[in-house]
Amino acid sequence: MGFNLGQYRIDGVLFLAPMAGVTDAPFRRLCRQFGADYAVGEMLASAPQLRNSRKTLARLKFFDKECPRVVQLLGADPVALSEAFHWAVEAGAEVIDFNMGCPAKKVCNVACGSALMREETQARKILEALGEVSQKCAVPVTLKCRTGWDEAHKNALQVGHWAEEAGFAMLTVHGRTRAGAFESQVEYDTIAQVASELTIPVVANGDIADANRASAVLRYTGAQAVMIGRAALGRPWLFKEIKETLRSGVPFELSRKEKVEAILTHRQWHFECYPEPVAVMTFRKHLLWYLTGWPGFEEVRSDLCQALDALMQGRCLLDYFKRQGWL
Ligand SMILES: Cc1cc2nc3c(=O)[nH]c(=O)nc-3n(C[C@H](O)[C@H](O)[C@H](O)COP(=O)(O)O)c2cc1C
Repeated sequence: MGFNLGQYRIDGVLFLAPMAGVTDAPFRRLCRQFGADYAVGEMLASAPQLRNSRKTLARLKFFDKECPRVVQLLGADPVALSEAFHWAVEAGAEVIDFNMGCPAKKVCNVACGSALMREETQARKILEALGEVSQKCAVPVTLKCRTGWDEAHKNALQVGHWAEEAGFAMLTVHGRTRAGAFESQVEYDTIAQVASELTIPVVANGDIADANRASAVLRYTGAQAVMIGRAALGRPWLFKEIKETLRSGVPFELSRKEKVEAILTHRQWHFECYPEPVAVMTFRKHLLWYLTGWPGFEEVRSDLCQALDALMQGRCLLDYFKRQGWL
């Protein structure tokens, strides 16, 4: 088990998926602490005019001792992407991931993300350009793609071969086409085929939310690892729960008190990472993911969502936890 990604040893099978607006440095740190074996940051635009935007720079942060530091790039132009590769490496990236999976209209309309699954000539040019930069700087490059553009055009295997030939070190496949967005039934047959034909490590992604599914997908696809996205929203401890369950054979769940401790730690790291007004606003969504469905939460939901500063939000949260006897 385990594999090398350039000079980095990846020992484990549970990866955190890149999620824009979610997998920032504080969230990655928490997931890694809870046992995620690898974590990819939020996608960054490679176009020169966007590269130094406040949003992009805010996303280009790492946590102390993060290893490897994985930066994901989005783009349609081989030259701009090659420049962005160098720029990200100068900013501290140790692995570059290329995004050929994002289905968002505003991304696909400019021929980026999953749109490249049907722009094969352009995709191949980009893969070759990034592979060349990777070799020159000795920084591994990896790819994340979908199974294809739509059911009639499933070309993940072809794209995977091009990536491998270009020198890519790993391929993650989300088991849906672009047309399937996030809702269609995920299928693992294409991933299994890609994993059996490529020599580079292949990672399976899509609808993996518990230990049973994780081990079934690993077995069925022969992938080296599985990557978890939405199931980790509000559940950074999922990695520990899956690992413990697989190790002991008995379903394992973190106690409420341990979860509360994790939420408070996340909040502290989040506030260390962003200016207060931004942190208050952006932590709200994490709170909703964490607490929706928890006993007594509906009574405090609107106060928590309306809290305008760190003090109010913090007080409201602590009062709620104390009232419930979790703190
Ligand atoms: C909120 C959100 C943001 C995402 N952002 C990215 C991204 O920046 N880069 C990327 O490659 N995929 C992104 N994805 C896709 C996920 O990485 C993953 O491929 C997808 O959610 C399927 O995995 P899951 O079923 O485990 O969620 C995003 C998904 C979500 C829900």
